[in-house]
Amino acid sequence: MTENQLIVVTGASTGLGAATARELSRQGFHVLAGVRRERDADAIRAAGVEPIILDITVPEQIEALAARVAADPRPLRAVVNNAGIQVNAPVETLPMGEWRRVFEVNLFGHIAVTQALLPALLRSRGRVINISSIGGRIAMPTYGAYAGAKFALEAVSDSLRREVAPLGVDVVVIEPGGVRTEIAGRGIATATDLATRMTPDQKQRYGSLVRAINTLMDTGTASGLTADAAARAVARAVTVRRPRARYPIGRDAAVLLRLARFLPDRMLDRISAANLRRHRPAPAAV
Ligand SMILES: NC(=O)c1ccc[n+]([C@@H]2O[C@H](COP(=O)([O-])OP(=O)(O)OC[C@H]3O[C@@H](n4cnc5c(N)ncnc54)[C@H](OP(=O)(O)O)[C@@H]3O)[C@@H](O)[C@H]2O)c1
Repeated sequence: MTENQLIVVTGASTGLGAATARELSRQGFHVLAGVRRERDADAIRAAGVEPIILDITVPEQIEALAARVAADPRPLRAVVNNAGIQVNAPVETLPMGEWRRVFEVNLFGHIAVTQALLPALLRSRGRVINISSIGGRIAMPTYGAYAGAKFALEAVSDSLRREVAPLGVDVVVIEPGGVRTEIAGRGIATATDLATRMTPDQKQRYGSLVRAINTLMDTGTASGLTADAAARAVARAVTVRRPRARYPIGRDAAVLLRLARFLPDRMLDRISAANLRRHRPAPAAV
């Protein structure tokens, strides 16, 4: 039954996207797995996993994806908007070009892919699965751009869900906590590089904060779920008959979301500061 249905997964070269593509193909779906490079296409290609070159910030590649889906007689069961980048820096120091890059990938790219595939999803009464984050509900220091784009993705998901539910399309948000993927290593490298570009004054103000967040990023993902376990949760959101609007993934996400729901902001500020203090090195250059 499922092999007669298509699923699109973006950002399938590594991490959660690759694991989700493989899990859904194991369940019998035919997965169109978006990757940006031929060598990643070769690595993910398998029975039931068909790579497609897709940078979600490139309109022509999104058009080609929509044409590929439209030409396929199989119904489109879901699009999993998973691609993402992690860019951490204090609001004061993150260059505007980087702010725009984060929003291009983590928000506008998903909207563009969703717009392009909605006609097919409406025909098949399919599902939009948006991979947000715990950072889509709580904004830690240096997460301004990442959390800003994820909060926005949550809001856009709410609007879209209310627009297309009457038309038979479900919209589901996934909110992972730590998952062991490439993202932490990439995020730490980016944050470290951005920190070297700070002025001496900014380094004085934020250097130890950046170091503490890097440590937290490292430990938070290292103690997180495997990508395979998180992928099984994403697959459940694709296949469950009546999906919830939101699925936190992992114990850390469930606990943090509960705290965020019930504690006042000032209390959350104190918890965040105390947590960071434990990881803060003595004030020094980054
Ligand atoms: N891991 C976690 O702890 C965690 C927690 C919360 C939420 N998430 C979310 O989970 C999703 C997957 O992240 P991950 O942890 O699996 O990280 P990852 O291993 O770094 O994977 C990110 C994927 O996104 C792709 N990507 C980046 N920019 C792209 C673009 N412009 N167009 C298309 N694809 C692009 C990457 O492709 P390239 O290899 O070509 O760069 C890669 O396939 C992200 O949305 C992330 O925010 C992860």
